[in-house]
Amino acid sequence: MASEKVMMGLDIGSSWIRAAIGSISKDGSLMVDTLCERPSDGVRNGVIVNVEQTLKSISSVIQEAELQAGVEVQTVIAGVGGSSIEGRQSEGVIGINTKGLEITSSDIFKSLEVARTFELAQDRFILHTLVQDFSVDGKSGIKDPVNMSGHRLESRALVVLGSQTNCSNTKKCLQRAGFNNSRLVLEQLADAEVVLGTDEKEMGTVLINIGSNITNMIVYQGGSPCYVGGVDLGGNNVTNDIAFLLNKPKTTAEQIKCESGNCFIPSVKQEDKIIIPQVGGLPSIQMPKVELSKIIEPRMAEIFSLLKQDLEIKGIRGNFGGGVVLVGGGSLISGATELANEIFRMQARIGFPEALPGLDRTYIDPRYTTVLGLLKSEARRSGGGSNRHSNGKDSSKSGFFRKLSNFIKTVV
Ligand SMILES: Nc1ncnc2c1ncn2[C@@H]1O[C@H](COP(=O)(O)OP(=O)(O)OP(=O)(O)O)[C@@H](O)[C@H]1O
Ligand SMILES: [Mg+2]
Repeated sequence: MASEKVMMGLDIGSSWIRAAIGSISKDGSLMVDTLCERPSDGVRNGVIVNVEQTLKSISSVIQEAELQAGVEVQTVIAGVGGSSIEGRQSEGVIGINTKGLEITSSDIFKSLEVARTFELAQDRFILHTLVQDFSVDGKSGIKDPVNMSGHRLESRALVVLGSQTNCSNTKKCLQRAGFNNSRLVLEQLADAEVVLGTDEKEMGTVLINIGSNITNMIVYQGGSPCYVGGVDLGGNNVTNDIAFLLNKPKTTAEQIKCESGNCFIPSVKQEDKIIIPQVGGLPSIQMPKVELSKIIEPRMAEIFSLLKQDLEIKGIRGNFGGGVVLVGGGSLISGATELANEIFRMQARIGFPEALPGLDRTYIDPRYTTVLGLLKSEARRSGGGSNRHSNGKDSSKSGFFRKLSNFIKTVV
């Protein structure tokens, strides 16, 4: 393998642990070598609650992936998500005192350091600093102020805060699995990396990952993330509702949901019937499909409504030309885009990860966006990561924006 760097994206989900190994070749492009998944253990609401159990699941999926790829991985990029993540809008102002009042990249970094300086609540730490834009002498909306003249530089950034405890547990597991060289990345950013194009980020898009126990959200406006959030609810809550209300085991409820569930009642025909398997060898029974939707729709509507409410409370409004994009296993339920469209009053679509070189087509599926995005985010940091979404704009951002994206730090 003519590669400079082999690395692994690791999505430690509440239901599945997914590992993708990729290599960045000398010409800077990313090649996916393999993707493996195993049911996860010891993770609840996207957070490790049992280190030993999680370590066991992580180790087995990593071993399988390394075996399949025929390589030993040194660098792991793991995802962080869930409701403990908080995005804080922050500004950093500095005076320019260089010769000729010309703004340098060092001024940019200083202003971002100021934006990162605020009191943190206990257990909080800065996971990422996501640059939005700059103002020079009150003129706002500037993306690249280097070499501009001015007296006052203001940076605007979305500072992403994580839970020290949760992230330390993830780091601990990775260390015990043999990885001292690991980096944590916000899952929402990973999703966006392989699902959203430059135009969608520019026009405004709400990207939602419906997992099993958590739903993550990231909002882009003007090309940059302006909000991150989420709720501790997901597809498994729908399964639990079906199991409880139909009095069935969870495995049966999961099967019914995946095969016959629809979360948008208006799209279900009144006459449609579904087969409900019975336990103990009893013959299956028939049930109107709409009755199943009456169980599923309220929970899915609750998830979307809570996210929408969150946006309203935080004052995130404006144009969203890119609409709502749904990813994660929970987005696979029929009717999800129709329901999202009705609740958010925006067009909605399912997001598929881009066809990265080497990626088997079976993984072009909304369940794999996070793991592939983690891999790609590392490739881009290393200067590679070609993709079909970039329209040439990004590459013109040359060294400055690469430096800024490297400023999107992980400080655990
Ligand atoms: N075809 C399908 N129809 C409906 N739901 C589905 C389908 N396939 C998977 N799901 C649901 O997707 C959820 C799992 O999604 P995913 O694999 O993205 O979760 P995860 O990453 O392990 O968990 P989390 O992100 O919450 O930590 C489960 O609730 C599962 O029932
Ligand atoms: Mg997930």
